[in-house]
Amino acid sequence: MAKKDIDWSSLGFAYQKTDKRFVSNYKDGKWDEGVLTEDSNIVISECAGVLQYAQTVFEGLKAYTTVDGHIVAFRPDLNGERLENSARRLEIPVYPKEKFIDAVVKTIEANADYVPPYGTGATLYVRPFIFGSSAVIGVKPAEEYQFRVFTTPVGPYFKGGAKPITIRVCDYDRAAPHGTGHIKVGLNYAMSLYQIVDAHNQGFDENMYLDAATRTYVEETGGANFLFVTKDGTVVTPKSDSILPSITRRSLMYVAEKYLGLKVEHRPVAFEEVKDFAECGLCGTAAVISPVGKIVDHGKEICFPSGMEEMGEVTKKLYETLTGIQMGKIEAPEGWIKVIK
Ligand code: PLP
Ligand code: COI
Repeated sequence: MAKKDIDWSSLGFAYQKTDKRFVSNYKDGKWDEGVLTEDSNIVISECAGVLQYAQTVFEGLKAYTTVDGHIVAFRPDLNGERLENSARRLEIPVYPKEKFIDAVVKTIEANADYVPPYGTGATLYVRPFIFGSSAVIGVKPAEEYQFRVFTTPVGPYFKGGAKPITIRVCDYDRAAPHGTGHIKVGLNYAMSLYQIVDAHNQGFDENMYLDAATRTYVEETGGANFLFVTKDGTVVTPKSDSILPSITRRSLMYVAEKYLGLKVEHRPVAFEEVKDFAECGLCGTAAVISPVGKIVDHGKEICFPSGMEEMGEVTKKLYETLTGIQMGKIEAPEGWIKVIK
């Protein structure tokens, strides 16, 4: 088997069909064993729960080629746990974490030729998801479900890679208190599409969402958590019950403290404080750490001292340490790296 003929370094964040995907169906109260298939199409009822009432949950993680040529995944157990939590909230039968990890490993293995080579800057994005596949017309959970894992090779989420982006404070809310902001469900993204299209039309790369109740605290963007650095080098990440608990953010906080010896705070962050931070970044599987150079709040600009050309100093160290761990250049904490082959 040979690597596919792909121009890895020029990949953006887009879907490209790969050879195999894992599929397991839930029927009569249980998940079947699941199989790898070449069929990338799904045939379901026009009245399927996912189509009518958005009953679907998903995950996102990556496979990397390490410096010594292995293929690895980063903390898939945490994606498995989060998918379990998301499923419970949408009355979707849980796909157990152990089976999740097994399915992810099998899917990556089956698409090994699509895992970008080391040093290309690209990775294999892995998208596990579950959806209600049987018909429902009254508002209730479906009786049948499908769990699926596909992969697609990707480059940077934001065009320009490590170049700082400009975001704006959004007038719409992402997640209600006691709502679904803390889980990874399609509905959270469907309702953000209007705002992201509008942001792009206005020349911004992303939206900063504030807390829906008071609009005074920083929440997150449509697809990543925030990470700030104070002028004295403390790493601060916003805490709220309506933010998705990012695995990248949790990993970076550990890296900041244990690898870089930095002070770390996970706490509510008032928007009022943002102008005083030295650096800002977005963190997530897709975003990795994307530096933010400027935040625009209804015409008022907050320009971070790190500027619009380079990642801030601390952000860069965090980026290099995290990606170093993922690519096998820096020793990982126990249990973070799942070797696939
Ligand atoms: N926040 C949102 C809304 C996301 O969609 C994502 C992406 O998964 C993240 C944060 C980052 O989470 P993670 O680091 O687990 O990918
Ligand atoms: C991820 O980072 O895995 C995500 O799901 C974000 C998504 C908006 C692409």
